[in-house]
Amino acid sequence: MGQEDRGEPHITAVKAERMNNPDVPSPSSNYVHKARFFQERASRWLDASFTGEELRRLEALLSPFDLGEGQTILEPGCGGGRLTSWLAERVGETGQVVACDLSERLLRGARERVRANNVLWKLGPVEELELREGSLDRVLCFQSFPHFEDQAGILERFFRWTRPGGKLAILHLISRERVNAIHRSAGEAVGSDVLPSGQEITGLLTAAGWTPSLISDGAEEYAAMASKQDTT
Ligand SMILES: C[S@@+](CC[C@H](N)C(=O)[O-])C[C@H]1O[C@@H](n2cnc3c(N)ncnc32)[C@H](O)[C@@H]1O
Repeated sequence: MGQEDRGEPHITAVKAERMNNPDVPSPSSNYVHKARFFQERASRWLDASFTGEELRRLEALLSPFDLGEGQTILEPGCGGGRLTSWLAERVGETGQVVACDLSERLLRGARERVRANNVLWKLGPVEELELREGSLDRVLCFQSFPHFEDQAGILERFFRWTRPGGKLAILHLISRERVNAIHRSAGEAVGSDVLPSGQEITGLLTAAGWTPSLISDGAEEYAAMASKQDTT
């Protein structure tokens, strides 16, 4: 997708610039509790970086996702930005990463860490993000999908925001059982945040219009990938 076609992400850059402005509206009340939860644990995600082994696994898992120069990628729940810098390198100067997180502390930290000029930082719940229809090439939910309040609804929005031929991936480097157990034991704001089973995510993706292409609900990782069919 060419630079001139991106539209909305460039317009919203103005809002991203207002991140340092205390007048920026805070997330709606539903998300305040969750934002506080991640805010209080921000150092964990700000200090997180990938091991060589994790990077190799990521590269392998994302191979069918066809990341490339010039793409516009949405990364909801970017946390401390460890994946954001990796994505920013892949899309290069002609591409853009739209990195969104509801924790202000994490987003600030990520912004300081990444220092790439092809990242658009968006503070707030991804559910409240406004993007132009068909403006994304890829949506990558890395270790964030269980936290979205309305999973069916957000998959529909991702579908609308993605161009025909675009792709979505939901990825975790640990099993679904482990993800769900970690959330259950953390309790509080994330206690009921769950990663759907392979069968459930297939149903959710299909209902939202996506065509599932790879569902791996394994012992070492969880990957759900889908594409938006190009019907032209
Ligand atoms: C488990 S952390 C993962 C962070 C990052 N993806 C990583 O792997 O390093 C989940 C992140 O999702 C963010 N998050 C949770 N719910 C969100 C929502 N509704 N919209 C945007 N971000 C959200 C949290 O603030 C947190 O930074």
